[in-house]
Order: sequence, then C-alpha cells, then structure tokens
Amino acid sequence: MRIGMIGSGYVGLVSGTCFAEFGHDVVCIDKNPAKITALKNGEIPIYEPGLDDLVAKQIKAGRLTFSTNIADGVSGMDAVFIAVGTPPRNGDDGADLSQVFDAARDIANAMTGYTVVVDKSTVPVGTARQVAKTIRATKNTTQFDVVSNPEFLREGNAITDFMRPDRVVVGTDSERAAEIMRAIYRPLYLNETPILITTPETAEIIKYAANAFLATKITFINEIARLCEVTGADVQEVSRGMGMDGRIGSKFLHAGPGYGGSCFPKDTKALAQTGRDLGAVQTVVESVIAANTQTKETLANRIIAELGGDLTDKTIGVLGVTFKPQTDDMRDAPSLTILPMLQAAGAKIVAFDPVGRETGQPLLPGVIFADQMYDVANNADAVVILTEWNEFRALDLDRLADAMRTPIMFDFRNIYKPAEMIHTPFTYHSIGRVKTTPVAPKLRQVGV
Ligand code: UDX
Repeated sequence: MRIGMIGSGYVGLVSGTCFAEFGHDVVCIDKNPAKITALKNGEIPIYEPGLDDLVAKQIKAGRLTFSTNIADGVSGMDAVFIAVGTPPRNGDDGADLSQVFDAARDIANAMTGYTVVVDKSTVPVGTARQVAKTIRATKNTTQFDVVSNPEFLREGNAITDFMRPDRVVVGTDSERAAEIMRAIYRPLYLNETPILITTPETAEIIKYAANAFLATKITFINEIARLCEVTGADVQEVSRGMGMDGRIGSKFLHAGPGYGGSCFPKDTKALAQTGRDLGAVQTVVESVIAANTQTKETLANRIIAELGGDLTDKTIGVLGVTFKPQTDDMRDAPSLTILPMLQAAGAKIVAFDPVGRETGQPLLPGVIFADQMYDVANNADAVVILTEWNEFRALDLDRLADAMRTPIMFDFRNIYKPAEMIHTPFTYHSIGRVKTTPVAPKLRQVGV
C-alpha cells in the first residue's frame, strides 16, 4: 500500500514509521521545513523510546520518506492519513479543528484518483462527515471516502501500542474504504488483533469514551485514596482487591497526583464540551475534570500544611516534573499546578527530571533545575516525588536524608512501601496510605 501521512508530529511520525515497518510505502508530510530536514537526517524531534532506530531502519529500507510538499503525500496514494494537531480552541473546551480542515482542503487539491482519507487526529464526533463535506466543497469529486481511525498510543510506549494494539477501530460507511483499511492493518490482523469496523460517528465516540473512561478510573481511585487516608486503609490493597474483579480490571487504578499529558485532560474537556453542545451533558466526565484539578490542589495544600503553612525559607526538592516517565512531555503535568502553589506559599523549589528539564524549565519559572538527582536534597525541608521514573525507585535513602535539613518525603506515586520506610530516617507521606515516621530514630543515630 502507498500511504501519505499529513502531519509529522507525535502521532503521524509513530504511525507512519510503524506502517513502513508493516511493509507499506509511507511519505510523511509536514509544513515545518526544519522538522522535515531533521527527519530526513534521522533526527527525531520528540522523545519516544525506540523511535529513532525504527525511523533510521525504515529510511534505509526506502519505505519511509519525508516532504514538505503535500502533493508528495497525496498523489497516487491509496490512503492519506490526517495526523495534525487538534489543540484546545479559544473560548471553550472544544478542539480547534482548523488544521484538520486545512489538511482536508490540501488533500482535495492534490488528489489524483480514488483516495481513502483517514482521520487519525483525535476529533469530535461528526468530524469525518465534515471532512468529507470540506473535500467535496474544495473539489467536485466523489473519488474518495473518509474514515475515522483513532489512535490509542501511550507516550513512551507508542511503538508497542501501535504494533500490538488491543484493537483497531475503523469507522466508515464504505466497503471499498474498509477493504483498504484491512489491507493496511493486515499484519496485525494476521496476529489476530480485532479490527472493529463501524460507522465514523461510533469510531469517533469510541476514542473519547475510552480516554474519558480511563481518566475516570484514575480519578475514582484518587478520590478513594483520600478516603483511605482518613480511615487508615491502604489504597494499593483497595486497588488490588477491586482489580481482581474481572469486570473492573487492575489497570489504571494507581492512585497518583492526577492525570496529565496530551490526551486525557484535552479529551475529557472536549467530550464534555461536545455533550454540552449537543444537549447530552456528560455529568460523570464533567465531575472527573473538576475532581482531577482538585486532586492536584489538595496535594499541594497537604505539603504546605505538613510543612507548617508558611514555606518562606523552606526548600523543597522535587523528583520528576513530566506528566509521566519515559517522556519529556509537560502538557498538563501535575507539577505545573503543584509547584507554583508551593512557590506561592514561599518555597524555593529545586527539581530534577531525567529528560524533562528542557521542556519543564520554561514552564516552571523560578524553579531551579539540578544536574544530579541527589542535588535536590541539599538542605531541603522535604522531597516530593511527582513522576515515577525508574531512577527514583531505588534511591539511596540514607544519602538523600543526610543531605536534607529535615528528612520528609512526599511520594505521590507510591513507589516506596510504608512498612520499609519506617526503617529509614524519613517521615513518609504517600497517597492513600498512612503517614509513617521512623522507628526508634535515636537508636539509628548511634548505629545500633
Ligand atoms: C493516554 C492513553 O493511554 C492512550 O491510549 C491515548 O491514546 C492517549 O492518552 P498517555 O497520555 O501517553 O496515553 O499516558 P497514560 O500512560 O495513559 O497516562 C495518562 C495519565 O494518567 C498520566 O498522567 C499518568 O500518570 C496517569 N495515570 C495512569 C495514573 O495516575 N494512574 C494510572 O493508573 C494510570
């Protein structure tokens, strides 16, 4: 198959490269000449484990090329994917679809024969029909079909998610288009990945409903965690007990500082907006959005209260600023809410992130970024873990405590165990579990 990918951002680049790995010929298009030049040289503008090697491999195999000229990605193609950004629009919580419709017009002008136009970007229900209308309005032709084919890629895991998905969703009314989509995804089909062929509207809603449901699961357990804190229960055990019920499942039940990233915050808001616009208000999703904001604020207030209210002259070390590990993405990261609240209470913040420094620094004015992980502890009054990077999982806690003014830890990813932390110098706060203090700290000091 010959595939054009309009937009070489995160989704476009991962999808295009993986389609090339499937054996298709792929041309990735982007309007940004600097990005295309870099990609031609095998330089990847995003942090995604394994992507650089796969891009290099496909360029070498001659199956993956890059261009700024839209015609290169449209003329003679079997399918052209729209994988452009759909950022939040000004004025409300909906998605700004201007780049999608620009791409639709560009595709219409460059089409040479029957083409399947595929919405890969996350777009609200009804967009596939509007894309079809836009193409017809631009060029008087029926030689195309529009398909909705949402992505379910997790940052940091995108290649595996693409190569071994739980399912592929294809929304189209056209059997001809469905046949081409089956051919494109054939390597997965051979692996017995279910391919759900449905209508465009259903496919569009599946994407939002799936993300909103996962965001709901996370938010639900975050609220249960608060209940655990005030009752002495353990949220991790609660998650395990719930997850053993096959109807619930154990995934996405890890309590934390609130969901962030490029999808959940934007998609929940856009779904809520669509519900309001169409008179089908999504009460659960509306509550999830509000509760997630509250989770982040509650945690910041908890640190402030535990440290005495006024944080003037206090230094807080922060481990992790990105919204999750294995990415440099700062979009809607809980750090962006929590750290400014600590600063407003007077705290000096020293942070370390294995890859998020470059992206995080401009968004966190006044936060000092440390070169080394243990530097955040120097004369600190508390250390806060906000992202569960692997390097934070086996910290030398004595070394950390020795450097601190007071060994207090807020582990908002629950990567340590209270039963173990009592044998360290730390007063240990986590999420949905009891606060612990060191056992017999005096004995420890004399080395007994
Ligand atoms: C998500 C979806 O998983 C993916 O299918 C979709 O296409 C894009 O959005 P991503 O944003 O990369 O992917 O990250 P994900 O790993 O799903 O985590 C999202 C957020 O939820 C992160 O902030 C993470 O820390 C948080 N989270 C996740 C929890 O707090 N607890 C959990 O149990 C799982």
